[in-house]
Amino acid sequence: MGHTQYSLSTQDRNELDKLFEILEHRSNFQLGYPVSTHFDYSSLFRFLHYSVNNAGDPFVSNNSFCLHTRAFELEVLKWYARLFRSPWEESWGYITNGGTEGNLYGLYLARELYPDGILYHSQDVHYSVPKSLRLLRMQHTTIRSQPNGEMSYQHLYETIKIRRDVCPIILANIGTTMKEAVDRVARIREILAELSVFSFYIHADAALSGMTLPFIDGSPLFDFSTGIDSISVSGHKFIGSPIPCGIVLAKQKNVDKIARPIEYIGSLDTTISGSRNGITPLFLWYAIRKYGREGFRAMVTRCLNRAEYAIVELNKVGCKAWRNPCAITLVIPRPPKSIIWKWQIAVNAEDAHIVIKPDVTTELIDEFVDDMQKVPRK
Ligand SMILES: Cc1ncc(COP(=O)(O)O)c(C=O)c1O
Repeated sequence: MGHTQYSLSTQDRNELDKLFEILEHRSNFQLGYPVSTHFDYSSLFRFLHYSVNNAGDPFVSNNSFCLHTRAFELEVLKWYARLFRSPWEESWGYITNGGTEGNLYGLYLARELYPDGILYHSQDVHYSVPKSLRLLRMQHTTIRSQPNGEMSYQHLYETIKIRRDVCPIILANIGTTMKEAVDRVARIREILAELSVFSFYIHADAALSGMTLPFIDGSPLFDFSTGIDSISVSGHKFIGSPIPCGIVLAKQKNVDKIARPIEYIGSLDTTISGSRNGITPLFLWYAIRKYGREGFRAMVTRCLNRAEYAIVELNKVGCKAWRNPCAITLVIPRPPKSIIWKWQIAVNAEDAHIVIKPDVTTELIDEFVDDMQKVPRK
């Protein structure tokens, strides 16, 4: 029996070439989303030849399927546990598909622990949270935001006070999507204490700022030592990865309550996805080993300096740019369509923002400022 040789048609190959050219070019002009392209994982490309799959609980090793990277996944989790002051023996987590899955996981745990709990989140929450709440059918209440995007603590106080009979589950934004505002975990804890609420759950959505704030002296604390119960961070944002990813960390004792043994995979079913990406743990591991805390601290400092430079330069040309303390996100008035298109700007009503992530150079900022200078002012 002869073997047919299958291959792509010339037209299909051209389609791919065209797509590649677009991505190559447009990657150079991306200021609107906090997704860095400052990475080179080419030495890991050889792993793409294998069907690697981290299905199951990363902490359980008695699995007959050997094509996984769970040892590397655990190393990454250990690094984050240390960064977020979660004692390793009490920690649990896994590498997710991104910040959304980490939020869903934190809220799922909270709901399993407190099925009648009410979730409180601010108006500035990322859309992944309301979606997770719909999926989980959780009761929730929206708390007003302050103009800088941070939660109104007065409104939180008044709202929890009315329902002190029900366990509060609080979603703390550790860097909101549009303004990178930080809900203060210490202030939330004070409110709970003032209201004599001793049973609660706090999930930290630290999609972007989970990788910046720990490296900024004097920045607001949000780690496990401050009383959070779980945290979600995106991996493809500040660190950067060609495949979306993230980490979720939680308390082992809480996860134990939802774990189910599954004979087929020889593991515990504790994660949301069954099959899980085995390549992204290698990317995160590689970045963490390459840069370490000092490397990330230097990267964050550089971004903050450039963010300040961008504010000064934009203000000079009449663009009212501002940022929250410790933020690498600059809020600007919504620019015209041509700028939104060229720079792939994220907008929300009258506001827009640009993110000074590790791949944003001063030359790029200068080009953006130059374009903004040409915008007719109202
Ligand atoms: C505050 C916040 N939370 C969650 C997410 C979702 O993260 P991901 O896109 O990694 O799912 C984002 C993404 O922009 C975000 O800004």
